[in-house]
Amino acid sequence: MTTRQFPVTRLRRMRRDDFSRRLMRENTLTPADLIWPVFVLDGENQREAVPSMPGVERLSLDLLIEEAREAHLLGIPALALFPVVDASLKSELAEEAYSASGLVQRSVRALKEALPALGIITDVALDPYTSHGQDGIIDDEGYVLNDRTVETLLKQALSHAEAGADVVAPSDMMDGRIGEIRRVLEKEHLVNTRIMAYSAKYASRYYGPFRDAVGSSANLGNADKRTYQMDPANGDEALHEVALDLAEGADMVMIKPGMPYLDVVRRVKDELKVPTFAYQVSGEYAMHMAAFENGWLDADSVILESLTCFKRAGADGVLTYFAKRAARLLAQ
Ligand code: PBG
Repeated sequence: MTTRQFPVTRLRRMRRDDFSRRLMRENTLTPADLIWPVFVLDGENQREAVPSMPGVERLSLDLLIEEAREAHLLGIPALALFPVVDASLKSELAEEAYSASGLVQRSVRALKEALPALGIITDVALDPYTSHGQDGIIDDEGYVLNDRTVETLLKQALSHAEAGADVVAPSDMMDGRIGEIRRVLEKEHLVNTRIMAYSAKYASRYYGPFRDAVGSSANLGNADKRTYQMDPANGDEALHEVALDLAEGADMVMIKPGMPYLDVVRRVKDELKVPTFAYQVSGEYAMHMAAFENGWLDADSVILESLTCFKRAGADGVLTYFAKRAARLLAQ
């Protein structure tokens, strides 16, 4: 006579009811985990669709402030601001990047005045301002010059901080720029300006729609950013980058892109144990939207699933174009 063999452990018991699923849930997504990247345009009452990012619009400042107010009321802690710079203001040396009356600097002042409690993160990199679309200043061969670029990034970061940016976020991947920016901020007594370093930023083709949105793709042409952004095949190098940025004075670090790089997020969080962010980039947004619009994936649940997985991987927060939509879903 054989006795019936029951599983000793039935993992399904805890999954049976909502109450026990909730009790054992390890990670939760809240609006406080979300950072909303936005594209700002010059002018008034301007709203432009970005064809490769359905549902994302470039907005003039007056409209952006209203959208930002909604984001703030939804509990989103911060916006990441990206400018759409007029072609006439782009140049070889990107001088417009540090103009006190530039679009970003004006936008920061206006946003901080209208919504003082909403965190404003600015992008420190020259690609919206260069006539060639690279993130830095190039030599005759088109090679991005590190130290020459850092000099300009310092002016840019300082102009953002002086305008009232809460966080400056260097996304350029030049060596040594975090330390130099920190030194200049200290010297100017801007001791509370936070630095969110795009530490492990990969030379990814998932950024295509973003380059359409800010209008740098045409300028960049067939060139790429592999001489400064990281090789997608590397993981250890990301830890090296993060460690250096922390030693140089970064307050927060970022891994970018997001979903194909969640292993890197986990390793950074485990090894460095610092505030770690990830960017669900434009190409990830576009892929999702394409599937949603075709009815191939269920939008609301997939958005929340994808963002929860960033939390599980160890991210303290996620930059995502879905921020407002996700925050609204979470409020329900
Ligand atoms: C530029 C910058 C990029 C992104 C953020 N800052 C593009 C790039 O490096 O070419 C990409 C964001 C996205 O794809 O959503 N320094």
